[in-house]
Amino acid sequence: MKVFVVGSGVMGSGIGQVFAMAGNEVKLYDVREDALKKAMDNIRWSVQKLHEKGSVRDPDSVMSRISTSVDLNEAKDHMVIEAVFEDLKVKGEVLSKVSTITHEIIASNTSSLPITDLSKFVKNAERFLGMHFFNPPVLMKLVEVIRGDLTSDQTFYKALDIVKSLGKFPLPVRKDVFGFVVNRVLFRMFTSACNLLELYTPEEIDSVAMKELGMPMGLIMLLDYTGIDVNYDISKEAERRGFPFRCEVLERMVRSGKLGRKTGQGFYDWS
Ligand code: CAA
Repeated sequence: MKVFVVGSGVMGSGIGQVFAMAGNEVKLYDVREDALKKAMDNIRWSVQKLHEKGSVRDPDSVMSRISTSVDLNEAKDHMVIEAVFEDLKVKGEVLSKVSTITHEIIASNTSSLPITDLSKFVKNAERFLGMHFFNPPVLMKLVEVIRGDLTSDQTFYKALDIVKSLGKFPLPVRKDVFGFVVNRVLFRMFTSACNLLELYTPEEIDSVAMKELGMPMGLIMLLDYTGIDVNYDISKEAERRGFPFRCEVLERMVRSGKLGRKTGQGFYDWS
């Protein structure tokens, strides 16, 4: 299969890597060449790491299946995965353009925006749906597959098969609500943990998640890991839609530029 991934950030590059590791031809698109270079460096590191651990047999052949592009027109005849900034307007612009270029399935990696809201921007929206990977995409097994009001049966079942072909576990999501299943659950926990920061240290809060709940990573560390700005944006959108996911501390961190792992500083020191 030929796959065109729009957006080469942590999620886009990780998703592209997953598809290439499963034998697909991948084109990674971004507007900036330097972003694509960074993405390819990260993929190379990750593929090599997985090779050393025995889960990738031939790293060179995986890398040979990934190319880059700064031209959206190259999406022609490709299945598209949209993985740009989590903003309805930004995603809408990309989806509207790319859906006039390819006739294949288009999937959004949105973590929370209802697919039916996004489908307004897509030409022939019966071939559009959500495919929500988790960070880091190469290691996390679950993928939410979300059907919007306009998604056809054919598209939905094909997408479930595609996710299985990647060696992942698809979670079919038939109720297209804000945050789907995972983020509806996660954001309640994030909000509780985040608001406790007024009283406890990150280490204290995280020890509960790890030692009592058996999570591999504490909730506050997970905010750093996935990006404080990303989580802040989701919490703002949630608030607009009437969900109680507000945490003042996130806002203060974003204002001070401490966005977590990606900036070297967050609730923890990643430098
Ligand atoms: N590719 C290849 N190898 C990787 C990697 C990657 N992308 N990321 C980490 N690794 C490797 C590390 O280098 C390390 O290798 P060594 O043992 O050789 O040092 C190994 O994996 C283990 O990593 P760590 O020692 O750093 O830590 P870990 O054992 O805790 O595993 C983890 C890392 C898999 C990320 C684990 O902590 C975990 O599962 N965390 C929870 C992640 C999670 O819940 N993600 C969902 C986030 S929510 C989300 O994404 C939703 C949203 O919409 C916002």
